[in-house]
Amino acid sequence: MMPNANISNREIVLEIKNLYKSFGDNNVLNGFNMKLHQGENLVIMGKSGSGKSVMIKCLVGLMEADSGSISVMHQDITKLDQKALDILRADIGFLFQGSALYDSMTVRENLEFPLRRHTKKFGEHIDTEKMVIEALSSVGLVSAIDLMPSELSGGMKRRVALSRTLILQPKIILYDEPTSGLDPITAKEIIILMQDIQKKYGTSSLIITHDVDCARVISDSMILLIDGTDYAVGTFKELSASEDPKIKAFFKQ
Ligand SMILES: Nc1ncnc2c1ncn2[C@@H]1O[C@H](COP(=O)(O)OP(=O)(O)OP(=O)(O)O)[C@@H](O)[C@H]1O
Ligand SMILES: [Mg+2]
Repeated sequence: MMPNANISNREIVLEIKNLYKSFGDNNVLNGFNMKLHQGENLVIMGKSGSGKSVMIKCLVGLMEADSGSISVMHQDITKLDQKALDILRADIGFLFQGSALYDSMTVRENLEFPLRRHTKKFGEHIDTEKMVIEALSSVGLVSAIDLMPSELSGGMKRRVALSRTLILQPKIILYDEPTSGLDPITAKEIIILMQDIQKKYGTSSLIITHDVDCARVISDSMILLIDGTDYAVGTFKELSASEDPKIKAFFKQ
C-alpha cells in the first residue's frame, strides 16, 4: 500500500529503522519502522501500552533505544554529540502527552523558557515579547499571557502547550495524544489549529492518537503500531477498509 504518491516522493525528514526497546522482559518495540516526509501528517495509532510514547521518547532522545537507527533530517541522532543534538532539537517541536506546562510559571514564562534554552537558533538579540505574543496569537490566546496554568481550562492548557512548541518555529512537530482528555468540540478545535499551523508554517507532523476522528481528518498516511511493529501502513481509507481483525479493531467506534 502506497500513501499519497505526491507526498511519498518528497524528502524524508524523519526515519526510524528497526527500532527495539525492552524494559526487562517487556519487549515494547520489536523492529519498528517509519518514515515521515516533508509536509506530511503521519498518524500513528496503537493500543494503550503498545509503546507509542516510548517510541516518541526515543525519537527526541529522552530515552535510549536498545537498537535500530533514528535519523532526523538525514542525521543519525544516535551518532551525534550533545552540541549537534541540541541544534537539531531546536527544529523538533514536541507536544507532550497531557500538556506539561510548568505550574509555577505564568503562560508568558512558560513560553519564554524554550526560547532561553535555544538562544543559538535565533541569536542573543531576539525580541522575546514579540515572539511570545505571536506564538500565543496563533492559538488565539494572547489574553491569557499573564495567567497561571491553574487558571486555564484543559483546552486552553493544550493550546498554550502548542504555542510553546511553535515558538521555536520547528520544522517537525511531534504530537503525543493532542486531543486526549478533551471534549469532542474542544478536540475538534485543536485539530483545526494543528491544520492551520501546518498550512501556515509547512511543518511535517507525527501525530500519536487513538482518536479515530482526529486520524480521519488530519492524516495523509497512517501506521498501526501492533506487537511492537509497524503492523499496517497506509491511508486512513485503506486501513479502515481492511478485513484484518487486528486492524478492524481500531476503527470500530
Ligand atoms: N520508563 C519506563 N520503565 C519501564 N517500563 C516503561 C517505561 N516507560 C514505558 N514503559 C512500558 O512500556 C510500555 C509502553 O508504554 P507507552 O507509554 O509507550 O505506551 P503508550 O502506547 O504510549 O500508551 P498510552 O496510549 O496509554 O499513552 C508499557 O508496558 C509501559 O509500562
Ligand atoms: Mg502514551
